[in-house]
Amino acid sequence: MCGIVGFIGHVDAKEILLTGLERLEYRGYDSAGIALFDQDAVHVFKDKGRIANLRSVVDPQVKGTVGMGHTRWATHGKPTQRNAHPHQSSTGRFTLVHNGVIENEIELRETYLSDYAFQSDTDTEVIVALIEKLALTHDLATAIQCLIEKLHGSYALGIIDHEQPDVLYAVKNKSPLLLGKGETFQMMGSDAMAMLHCTDQLIEIHDKEYVRIEKERLTIYDATGQVVNRTPFVAQIDATEIEKGTYAHYMLKEIDEQPVVMRRLIDTYFKAGQIDIDDAILATVEQAKRMYIIAAGTSMHAGWIGKQLLEGTGTPTEVHIASEFVYNTPIITEGALFIFLSQSGETADSRAVLVKMKALGYPCLTLTNVAGSTLSREADHTLLLHAGPEIAVASTKAYTATVAVLAILATRLAGESDFNLAHELAVVATVMESLIADKEMYSQLARTYLTAHHAFYIGRHVDYYTALEAALKLKEISYIQAEGFAAGELKHGTIALIEDQTPVIGIISQAAVHLNTRSNLKEVEARGAKTLTISFKSLSLASDQVIIDDVHPLLAPLITCIPTQLLAYYGALHRQLDIDKPRNLAKSVTVE
Ligand code: F6R
Repeated sequence: MCGIVGFIGHVDAKEILLTGLERLEYRGYDSAGIALFDQDAVHVFKDKGRIANLRSVVDPQVKGTVGMGHTRWATHGKPTQRNAHPHQSSTGRFTLVHNGVIENEIELRETYLSDYAFQSDTDTEVIVALIEKLALTHDLATAIQCLIEKLHGSYALGIIDHEQPDVLYAVKNKSPLLLGKGETFQMMGSDAMAMLHCTDQLIEIHDKEYVRIEKERLTIYDATGQVVNRTPFVAQIDATEIEKGTYAHYMLKEIDEQPVVMRRLIDTYFKAGQIDIDDAILATVEQAKRMYIIAAGTSMHAGWIGKQLLEGTGTPTEVHIASEFVYNTPIITEGALFIFLSQSGETADSRAVLVKMKALGYPCLTLTNVAGSTLSREADHTLLLHAGPEIAVASTKAYTATVAVLAILATRLAGESDFNLAHELAVVATVMESLIADKEMYSQLARTYLTAHHAFYIGRHVDYYTALEAALKLKEISYIQAEGFAAGELKHGTIALIEDQTPVIGIISQAAVHLNTRSNLKEVEARGAKTLTISFKSLSLASDQVIIDDVHPLLAPLITCIPTQLLAYYGALHRQLDIDKPRNLAKSVTVE
């Protein structure tokens, strides 16, 4: 979702900001803009669409050593040039970029700004108008403190005050924002990616803090104006990992990286053949009487598989949609442990649950791919996914890494057994390799089977969870209306939708239920469906279109998802869609 980058130093900020915005593109956006302060005037350039459009409207003659850039994912108002950020106050004194949602914007408009002539439909313009009003009667530091008091909701803000040409301000509550430290320059950014081309020295900003950013120094203040000292940390991302290389799309690169990720997890989480998890994490997990997995989207699908794995250790485990749990909280059992699954570590829905559960005193563990992310920092413990940066909006390698880390946790929790997980994961990596080597076959299958505007994935047991994830992957990048169903449930209503040539893809990896799923495939075939079967070799028929070498049945979801990722990829490719940046979607969903 919206991305922010800011720079103040001794060189022209223009290219630094544009590169930063390009690095933030993966978060998802529909318009973009920059502001450059050249000591006399603040120049704003913005446009709807991609950064390439923005580049074409930026005047190359304009230079400024202070500036801010923004990618906007529309919430209030359409993705137009008018609604794009930066926004300026009516006198032009303040220029502002914002990531988040102001929940009390209507009240603020009515109470303080009833005579203000708004130029856009955004909640952001309310903030810039309000700061201008507050600064009429207060010095800017006090005005920002008043602003923090008045704003309800989530916001990461970058502010330029025309009266202070050598300062940039940052303010944060709930939405992500980091500071970047250099010798002769300072930065702010929604995440490390926005700043890595200049610095890997980062500093956290906590909620309701604001920062005065000058060329040679950063000063953080709490909401009451007290100075806060905070030590920088080094970003744990290799900038080369975010290059696409020879791949046409990040998504294909990330699908291909999955065997490497599995091997990296073996290296990271096993020492001398034994699972090596931090003692404090282990103690917390062992004490849990019931686990609550909280996640959204693809991470939630990984959570369903995690439930299966964790309940195998005897601990009851529930899976909840983050956005539902926070405002419709069920009865929580004594001895609860909250496990947050989040690739980005920034998902606002999950964070809202984390904040609430921490306040209630429950232990919280986050599984995330991003070290130093909000959900990681704010939980008691973190287990990292080690998948490397995932840039494509559609999650692939972070999904399989989440499932693998949950398998590692569950196996360690189960204690002594003959199950050699390191060996089984190594087998998974090898089978993954053989599947991704056969790309042409998936391209052909996508051409043959994904011909309609709708499709169904069906499976039983853990294959049902894979069906849910497969359908989401197909929907989000190919825009095919796809649904994942428990195979046995289809006949209880949804089978009414099956007509001639409806694509139905069956997933078969579990011996106990494979015949039942085959019966369900027959039922839809009898009604005209065009079926495609993905099955384990030991359960396969010669007529199955995709036959996969067996892996341990508990780890089947790590393998059965690969053909479905490739089908989604080629389905979208054949439709010539923007695979890495599907419409309306954001990688980092930082608003509730
Ligand atoms: C789909 C996808 C999303 C995310 C969801 C949660 O491919 O990536 O469904 O899984 O938005 O995001 P994270 O995992 O970052 O919390």
